[in-house]
Amino acid sequence: YLDYLAAYKINKFHWHLTDDQGWRIEIKSHPKLTEVGAYRAIKPGQVYSEDKTINGQYGGYYTQEDIKEVVAYAQKLHIDIVPEIEMPGHAQAALAAYPELACTAGSFDVWTEWGVSENVYCPKEETFHFLEDVLDEVMELFPSQYIHIGGDEAPKTRWKSCDYCQELIKREGLKDEHELQSYFIRRIEKYLNAKGRSIIGWDEILEGGLAPNATVMSWTGQEGAIHAAKQGNDAIMTPVSHMYFDYYQGNAQTEPLAFNAEVRLDKVYSFNPIPKELSAEEAKHILGPQANVWTERIQDFDHVEFMIFPRLFALSEVGWGTSNPDKYNDFEKRAIHHLEYLEAEGINYSKALFEVTGKTYADGGENYYKLEVKNPKLTIRYTIDGSSPNVTSTLYSAPILIDKTMEVKSASFDGAQQKSTVLTQEFLKSKSTGKVITLENGPSAPYLANGASSLVDGIFGHPYSFKSDWLGFNGTDLVAIIDLGQHQNISEVRMNTLDFTESWIHRPQSVIIYMSQDGKQFKEIAKLNKEQINAMGGTLQLNFPKQKAKFVKVVVENVGKIPNGYPGAGYDAWLFVDELTVQ
Ligand code: ACM
Ligand code: ZN
Repeated sequence: YLDYLAAYKINKFHWHLTDDQGWRIEIKSHPKLTEVGAYRAIKPGQVYSEDKTINGQYGGYYTQEDIKEVVAYAQKLHIDIVPEIEMPGHAQAALAAYPELACTAGSFDVWTEWGVSENVYCPKEETFHFLEDVLDEVMELFPSQYIHIGGDEAPKTRWKSCDYCQELIKREGLKDEHELQSYFIRRIEKYLNAKGRSIIGWDEILEGGLAPNATVMSWTGQEGAIHAAKQGNDAIMTPVSHMYFDYYQGNAQTEPLAFNAEVRLDKVYSFNPIPKELSAEEAKHILGPQANVWTERIQDFDHVEFMIFPRLFALSEVGWGTSNPDKYNDFEKRAIHHLEYLEAEGINYSKALFEVTGKTYADGGENYYKLEVKNPKLTIRYTIDGSSPNVTSTLYSAPILIDKTMEVKSASFDGAQQKSTVLTQEFLKSKSTGKVITLENGPSAPYLANGASSLVDGIFGHPYSFKSDWLGFNGTDLVAIIDLGQHQNISEVRMNTLDFTESWIHRPQSVIIYMSQDGKQFKEIAKLNKEQINAMGGTLQLNFPKQKAKFVKVVVENVGKIPNGYPGAGYDAWLFVDELTVQ
């Protein structure tokens, strides 16, 4: 990885060493951090790389000897390694090892969930002594001017109900828990500054007031950096919109599992790390861009390579100021040429630049599937028999009629060489496919897909890509009327829904099906309540005695406000629905 950074002239490596789900650096004064904190329970249904599974647990860590070796190697390449020790949040693995540093009594597991744990460090003296011991060893290992102290996503729930924390707030004359976080960070900054080091923290260290010499690493957007620079602090630019390399760089259906969002090569290339809001003087505080490769969904190094290439080419130009978004096409040509080098070296990379994109459209009550590839030099070949397309497969020349349930597999080719991964698209042909559908109220941005017709295009939304074909409704219900065109015998309605409560997406409260002969008078035919919905899971199915009707009305009720006990409690819940099939 360091070799790649050096090759593309990236001179900093930010090493995220601790989190809720694991502690990955040996600390000799606190051996339980790795004995306990480096391993977590194996959760049924999750995928783990075998070489990191030990005694029925998943994990591992870097010894201090490992780290010295890495630091020495990086130095030879003129790369500074900036270590990150997370505080006060993302600390559950540390609390599993040393539960006395938490606000609440009891034991903690190294977290097996994705997301943000509410168990954070309690700002007691014992905690500061612990962190100072940890940071002493970190400074011994890493010569970097900067030590990253995390600071992101620290829920205040525990502090709010902790007597010690509340007394500390009073004693120090702090306004609230945000100022308590600021107190926490300032104390750590003072300690590190006294040893000649500087701190970096994520955006949230701005909450409650910025520590005097801190550098802000701006990830939620660019506001944090603008704020910091305007008050004379330095900032590093790594917004999710352009710089998150754990997001998909192409169609989620053709790439390995990634975080449910997209940052394509042209998006990376278009990034200007100097916010327009800053004067020339303020802009001096922008130290540069950074890209983040979070690895929750990355199993091995092959996949790491896939996530960074070719986006690393763009990051390099952005960082060195040689990028020009107006000349993206020129850059892309160079990038494609340079991929031949990766190919020759056996380095993995995303094939997104060559991907085939598919779109369905309805015409005269029939659905068609249109395939496209961006590069005019490439051809598309496809199969409908389940086999992978190769150089002898049917050459695509016109939209494919979807007149039955089928699976289309397509790929792009340069002569005999396959350039893209295979795009697999299943189509389900039902009585509603391609029919006229109207919605009482529209979906909520940005989850609009191709509007109402996405619900009857024969394509299912991808379970891990919210933007694939799903319609999202923020706090509102889905109320759809499908005009079947003629009277039909009907006995079943099905739909898929999503359940990602950590992303505020909840399954519906209820589903009701109505039918009508004239599109005016509707009669209720079938209903699912919350219990039945929870028992069914993702695919909701309503069966009823055969009826003749021309219009079907489907009401999918949003749970409304997110219930207590879930992330985002009290805010509007999201309802995600795709594909309404009528049989
Ligand atoms: C972050 O992605 N939580 C910094
Ligand atoms: Zn506390």
